[in-house]
Amino acid sequence: MSKQMVTVIDHATGKQVDLEVLNPTDGPKTIDVRKLYKELGYFTFDPGFMSTASCWSKITYLDGEKGILRYRGYPIEQLAEHSSYMEVCYLLLHGELPQADELHTFEEGIKDRSMLHEAVKSFYNGFRRDAHPMATMVGVVGALSAFYHDHLNIHDPEQRIVSAMRLIAKMPTIAAWSYRYAKGWPFVYPRKDLSYAENFLHMMFASPMEPYDVDPLFAKALDVIMILHADHEQNASTSTVRLTGSSEANPYAAVAAGIAALWGPAHGGANEAVIRMLNDILESGKPLQHFVDRAKDKNDRFRLMGFGHRVYKSFDPRAVIIRQICHQLLNNLGPQGRQYQKLFETAMELERVALEDDYFKSRNLYPNVDFYSGIIFLAMGIPLNMFTVLFALSRTVGWISQWNEMMGDPQSRIGRPRQLYIGETERDYTPMEAR
Ligand code: ACO
Repeated sequence: MSKQMVTVIDHATGKQVDLEVLNPTDGPKTIDVRKLYKELGYFTFDPGFMSTASCWSKITYLDGEKGILRYRGYPIEQLAEHSSYMEVCYLLLHGELPQADELHTFEEGIKDRSMLHEAVKSFYNGFRRDAHPMATMVGVVGALSAFYHDHLNIHDPEQRIVSAMRLIAKMPTIAAWSYRYAKGWPFVYPRKDLSYAENFLHMMFASPMEPYDVDPLFAKALDVIMILHADHEQNASTSTVRLTGSSEANPYAAVAAGIAALWGPAHGGANEAVIRMLNDILESGKPLQHFVDRAKDKNDRFRLMGFGHRVYKSFDPRAVIIRQICHQLLNNLGPQGRQYQKLFETAMELERVALEDDYFKSRNLYPNVDFYSGIIFLAMGIPLNMFTVLFALSRTVGWISQWNEMMGDPQSRIGRPRQLYIGETERDYTPMEAR
């Protein structure tokens, strides 16, 4: 079959170049512009990567128009219903669903690596007690390369898998300890008899003074939420991990950079911002329309947090599943869940008011994954400043799988975008007294 080409003609010089059209297995065809600069001397301009594919990938596919999200081809709805977070980690990292013995070995490998070097404990003491746990996460994860020097050959596929498993394994411990440090509570060590989600909840909330039973409802809800957050192709934090890793930096440094990128309220920090917004709405006593109007006002910086997405333009499939989990969890919690019911009802009502509004309809702005997740976290007793930490914990497997894919590609090169320079052209230095 002959290749499809697109011809770019420079009418100023009469030169032209034929660019190959690349066919994905799913999604829009993609023009390979690599020859453009060499043959015509032009760069392409695409701030925010609105229509630029920064890499190829076989891991995650999403179609924002149709609200589709698939990991390695499997629909997110099926994985959320039938799979487990550990199985999804295996799938993202290795490309296929595991056999029973493969999953067992993988889970054991994760559990065996969940402890932290004892010296990491003293590292925490360098932080102020009131530090945001995301700040602690960036620091501690970045420091891991100083503790785990072995298996740092990024060109060896087996060593990359060891680093990947270490990161997935240690992240719940690092996350829970960042919370306990801020509280002044003693660190709780991971336990091999608990699942990944149970272990995190145990390390967060157990006291050395008495036994702590993990609520199976919370563990199940957390497991599904982690599946939903596990990967999302080339978003800001994943692209940051790839860009950092492309310089051949070690995987711990690359993932620390990803955590930093995730922190912003336009990305993973939105789950925290949603709860602050819902609380403000409830405290103000003002009608929801007031906040919807503020979000529409271009002179007001207020936005509906948890609304809108760069890619999803019909609905975010993760938000649909999370809303269901929220509903089930609050119902099953009985009286304990009632205090969060008001927040949930406000969120659903806000969604209804916004989706009836032309501004939101015409811009295809729907609730995203962060809109309902925070209410579930609150009901589990997880404090606001830990929400984005939980996102980082869940996304680590996505970041490291994407990094592993890039490092395994012999064609991969250092990421180095070009720019459209619009500053001054050359001018002579002016001595101070002449300025
Ligand atoms: N509230 C009000 N208006 C909005 C919102 C919102 N939440 N989101 C987008 N818009 C408006 C924009 O003002 C813009 O209007 P215009 O066309 O009149 O200028 C239009 O919708 C398009 O929005 P953009 O900002 O161009 O969309 P972009 O793809 O750049 O941004 C983003 C996407 C950052 C998610 C944005 O929708 C937003 O800030 N949402 C709130 C924060 C949030 O929930 N972030 C979490 C995203 S999911 C995740 O990262 C896990």
